Amino acid sequence: MAAVRRVSSTAGESDFKQSLFARIADDIETQGYSIRPAALPEALAGSLLLHQQAMAAEKYSRAGIGRGEGYLQNEFVRTDEICWITGNSAAGSAWLEWTASLKDFLNRQLFLGLFSFESHFAHYQPGDYYKRHYDAFRGEANRVLSVVAYLNPDWGNADGGELVLYRDDREREGIKVVPLLGTLVTFLSEEFPHEVLPANRDRYSIAGWFRVNSSITGRVDPPR
Ligand code: OGA
Ligand code: MN
Repeated sequence: MAAVRRVSSTAGESDFKQSLFARIADDIETQGYSIRPAALPEALAGSLLLHQQAMAAEKYSRAGIGRGEGYLQNEFVRTDEICWITGNSAAGSAWLEWTASLKDFLNRQLFLGLFSFESHFAHYQPGDYYKRHYDAFRGEANRVLSVVAYLNPDWGNADGGELVLYRDDREREGIKVVPLLGTLVTFLSEEFPHEVLPANRDRYSIAGWFRVNSSITGRVDPPR
């Protein structure tokens, strides 16, 4: 009997996942971005939150801009701290598994050719921000789809720290997203400038990027 119950709850979860992924694919196809509250499975969100809370502060380092030798720390642009997710923890590997199934789904639905994935935890202390930026630049053809997941169990209007997504270069108002536990935001990396408004309390999120395989152009281009 236990096995039957288990199977049926697993089937329910996978139905939920399939319909969520279908909505995300549809959002991206019609508008280029998707904002989905309560998207992360509860067990996954809970374990990422616990892992994030347990992680010692020294595992984080000051976030920079760019990669490799182009890596720059620039307090004018961003002040958060980050920790790359390698899959060494149970929570991290469950996250990588879940995002890999999202990647497979989107590749089947939208033919995006997503190939690799890189992601990091981010911690914004009170006052921290990330100014308006793009995650990828046209023509560089590497980061294709950005994904952000939030890990804050409660978050009020007075807490600040919203993600603001702008539909184009000229837009000033933007769409504000409250960084509430379980919310998942995905958007085409080259299309949407965005920023993180100063947070008034500790703010936790995961930011990740699906990339195409740019090494087929002959350049050696590891994920990070
Ligand atoms: C990023 C980013 C958004 C967020 O790390 O590039 O835009 O809400 N993060 O944490
Ligand atoms: Mn960004």
